[in-house]
Amino acid sequence: MKVAGRVGAVPPYPFVEISRKIAAKKAQGIDVISFGIGDPDLPTPPSVLDALHKASLDAPNHRYPESEGLPEFRGAVADWYKKRFDVNLDPETEVVSLIGAKEGIGHAAMAFVEPGDIALVPDPGYPVYSVGTLFAGGESYLMPLMEGNQWFPDLDAIPEDVSNKATIMWLNYPNNPTGATAERDQFAKAIEFARRHDVVLMHDACYSEIAYDGYQPLSLLQVEGARDVCVEFHSLSKSYNMTGWRLGMAVGNPEIIEALRVIKSNMDSGVPQAIQQMGIAAMDIPDGEISDRNEIYQRRRELVVGALRALGLTVKHPRASLYVWAGVPEGFTSAGFSERLLEETDVLVSPGTSYGKWGEGYIRLSLTLSDEQLEKAVDRLSSWSM
Ligand SMILES: Cc1ncc(COP(=O)(O)O)c(C=O)c1O
Repeated sequence: MKVAGRVGAVPPYPFVEISRKIAAKKAQGIDVISFGIGDPDLPTPPSVLDALHKASLDAPNHRYPESEGLPEFRGAVADWYKKRFDVNLDPETEVVSLIGAKEGIGHAAMAFVEPGDIALVPDPGYPVYSVGTLFAGGESYLMPLMEGNQWFPDLDAIPEDVSNKATIMWLNYPNNPTGATAERDQFAKAIEFARRHDVVLMHDACYSEIAYDGYQPLSLLQVEGARDVCVEFHSLSKSYNMTGWRLGMAVGNPEIIEALRVIKSNMDSGVPQAIQQMGIAAMDIPDGEISDRNEIYQRRRELVVGALRALGLTVKHPRASLYVWAGVPEGFTSAGFSERLLEETDVLVSPGTSYGKWGEGYIRLSLTLSDEQLEKAVDRLSSWSM
């Protein structure tokens, strides 16, 4: 059997390694508390489940969906963008449904990257940006995210021969794993770069609805000129506790959306219609319910930041996202610190290097465990002597 080279070329998915470690401990009867994976513990809201039930009884929803999504779903996305960001979208040409943002992110490279092309990819970052590039035969140029640069890539440091070969650039704010947010001037710089180098700007905004202290993350499409060069990826996963249902959308420049639709319509058959109906109900949830949910995460954020600071780690409160990103104490590597923590406290955190080499020196903690588990973990951390 000849397995294609790209299969072997994929680095191990970091979460597979995390799951393996948890399983090994659990097999020994150990109660591991995991801050590893960003998968909300909170349930899908009841109104969204009601919509699924109702839609599941409607026979037309039992048939193949269209790849681009139901007109009603795309209309609801456009309404949501107007309400949330004051951005007007044409649901016909500027919106496409996704089987979760991951699917769209993976397929986007197929639409814009060919052998010899470069994708500009943040490091540390969500691994699918570079894996999609690899599958499309392109090469990733890693843009380091560093604290000194507010975790935004230094676009002036990208060599001219790289930017000349680049066809896409990935950005992700609120950011996984650093929890950083980006402001208008940073986005404006990226738009200017994309125009100058004829690069498609892919903005992954999957965490835009998880924010603290009243902060409201921006859409890149709120910034002047974005629509000429940009597509934005969204996910209902984190916004509405719907990771298991697989629903997201890409919005923005119609040419980019059409290219993505062509790839998708030849690779998948779209999102089940009943699940799109869930999305329509989700985007109609009152703002108050979303802020109540965010308050739960915010309480957890306080507990986690406090416990880490007490241990001597350097950590700032993230303004958004599900993640606390903390610098490990002197003398530790990310992996060394995480391994010792797991061995001695049965608390699992992700080493920053799971998200790229520039994640060295940091660990990531996800706020998606129950309050009870979280309090237990905080107790373990506070009685740990390193
Ligand atoms: C930055 C980022 N983008 C995209 C995704 C995938 O989202 P979805 O569940 O919609 O596929 C994740 C999931 O963890 C993520 O962290």
